[in-house]
Amino acid sequence: MAEAPERNLALDIVRITEAAALASARWLGRGDKNAGDEAAVKAMRNSFSSLNITGTIIIGEGEKDKAPMLANGESVGTGKGPALDVAVDPVEGTNLLASGRPNAISVIGVAPSGCMFNPGHSFYMRKLVVPEAAKNVIDLDAPVSLNLQNIAKALGKRLQDLLVFVLDKPRHVPLIAAIRKAGARIQLQTDGDVAGALMANDSRSEVDCMMGVGGTPEGVITACALKGMGGEIIARLEPQSYVEKEAIENAGIDLRETLTTDSLIKSDDCFFAATGISGGDFLTGVRYVQDYALTKSLVIRGKTGTKRYIESYHNISRLAKISAVQY
Ligand code: FBP
Repeated sequence: MAEAPERNLALDIVRITEAAALASARWLGRGDKNAGDEAAVKAMRNSFSSLNITGTIIIGEGEKDKAPMLANGESVGTGKGPALDVAVDPVEGTNLLASGRPNAISVIGVAPSGCMFNPGHSFYMRKLVVPEAAKNVIDLDAPVSLNLQNIAKALGKRLQDLLVFVLDKPRHVPLIAAIRKAGARIQLQTDGDVAGALMANDSRSEVDCMMGVGGTPEGVITACALKGMGGEIIARLEPQSYVEKEAIENAGIDLRETLTTDSLIKSDDCFFAATGISGGDFLTGVRYVQDYALTKSLVIRGKTGTKRYIESYHNISRLAKISAVQY
């Protein structure tokens, strides 16, 4: 017998990323990344308080940069609904927001309790993200050129047509050189590898894959989105300092383990939502038109693979009268 339709939590959690985006977009280009982040954190916390879930924050995101955050282990929701692990990044790309550059987004992933990889003291991981068609041809231990050749073949492209998203960081100098030597094209961005991973899995974007070392929390959030999008992340913790390495080893975690979409999120019954803050060609940012603010979001249900792009018109003066969230 077919299953009865269940509650699609993605349609609930998108209200939370929308609130965070609306609150933080006021800080676009104002040079104060903590103020923008704090506004988003406050908006998220307020919005969670009316959501019927029994949520535990597994990923608050912000520990690495000592930024404002929802605390790891914090309870969220009314305590009346399903028991869920929750990952949030109220502003993914705080520098992008502060400098008014594209692709700052607000994101949430949720999965049944016990199903989300807990990064603990791990801040960084090496990641390779590809669309579904290339999920079986990638290997973290293979040379960059071989991975690129295999990805191009699986996507039915020539290597020189491939576009690889890479964070523009000093640690990526060898990776960038290897991609150029292999003959593929690169999109370098200062921040925002969740957006990079989503773009690699969005047929409307020209990005084909994402490579490099980025945040571990961001990797888990990415996996939550990929469960529904059908793509793949393979990753390995890659501490960037002695203190980080020691903390991971003391926690008994094997640094050699390859993590995958399924090991980062161990259930298909997961949900993801992202709302654009600063714009860009992936999710447009918050736009203000007379009395309205417009937001664009992507919501994904892991189990069914349904993706929805939601455009919302928020009446700012009405909301300001009834909501604790600052608009
Ligand atoms: P924040 O929003 O926390 O600033 O993260 C932005 C980001 O670029 C992520 O997308 C990425 O995973 C991580 O930072 C990389 O870390 P770092 O900037 O320390 O290299």
